[in-house]
Amino acid sequence: MPPPERVRLPTGTPGLDWMITDDGSRTLWDQEVRETYHSGCGAVAESLGVYLLNSGVANRLRAGKATSVLEYGLGTATAFLLTASVADFAQVPLRYAALENVFLPAEVFESLQLVKSLSDRATQTAGGAEARPEHEFDWDCLNSVGTLLHGLTAARRHLPRDPEPGEYVFELGDYVTLTVQIGDARDFRCDSPSASALAPLDAIYFDAFSPDTSPELWTREVFEQAFGALRAGGTLTSYCVKSAVRRTLRDVGFDVRRVPGPVGGKREVLLAVK
Ligand SMILES: C[S@@+](CC[C@H](N)C(=O)[O-])C[C@H]1O[C@@H](n2cnc3c(N)ncnc32)[C@H](O)[C@@H]1O
Repeated sequence: MPPPERVRLPTGTPGLDWMITDDGSRTLWDQEVRETYHSGCGAVAESLGVYLLNSGVANRLRAGKATSVLEYGLGTATAFLLTASVADFAQVPLRYAALENVFLPAEVFESLQLVKSLSDRATQTAGGAEARPEHEFDWDCLNSVGTLLHGLTAARRHLPRDPEPGEYVFELGDYVTLTVQIGDARDFRCDSPSASALAPLDAIYFDAFSPDTSPELWTREVFEQAFGALRAGGTLTSYCVKSAVRRTLRDVGFDVRRVPGPVGGKREVLLAVK
């Protein structure tokens, strides 16, 4: 069956369109890569299920444990904003670093409309209109998303449109430090000062474009660095469960599992434990 047609809207940034996903949240369609930044089934559902919940990060934060996360591919910052909001709600320090070669312009963050999609979804859930995969998730944890997004947008506005490669650190509120490492994620080294600043690293959100379009990021070399950076017991989560990817992760030492994906989305997603 062909995938459903989804609404697309211009972003004002060449090469990128907004796409409205099935849970009402927005993702981007990259015209050149011909891929979306999230599953069309739900950008928030995927970020929450595949990353915050499966990684154990949401539970850690809600249990009051300071947490450190590394993301491959900041993109729209949806995964970051949801994670940061849980930290803010729990009043727990979060160190979050993201590897990204294209730091999106402020206008894109400004029109993400994440708060609107969260409140629409909360209304739907409250009305019992739909059974959601994250129905047991405490949506109040996401109350700071708007403030955090505002802070990120303002900070991004102070940078040039195409910032030089390097490390950019943003303090967002009392608990959250975001470090955006602009450059090629293949250059990340587990023995670098940037990696040491994250130690002990609790979780990696591996959210690169797919192995078909970005094969260079799904390699043994990249996963070895990821493995080296994580603490024992730390997790690497991803939407991709391709057998070649699982095999490579196993080869570098991860215990690799397939776990259920968000309802309405992929049947299985990936959880790899060091
Ligand atoms: C699937 S999207 C990430 C979506 C993101 N997690 C979000 O919540 O919006 C993949 C991201 O990887 C970035 N990317 C692609 N190739 C890269 C590379 N070699 N190094 C660093 N970032 C890369 C893209 O610019 C894009 O933002």
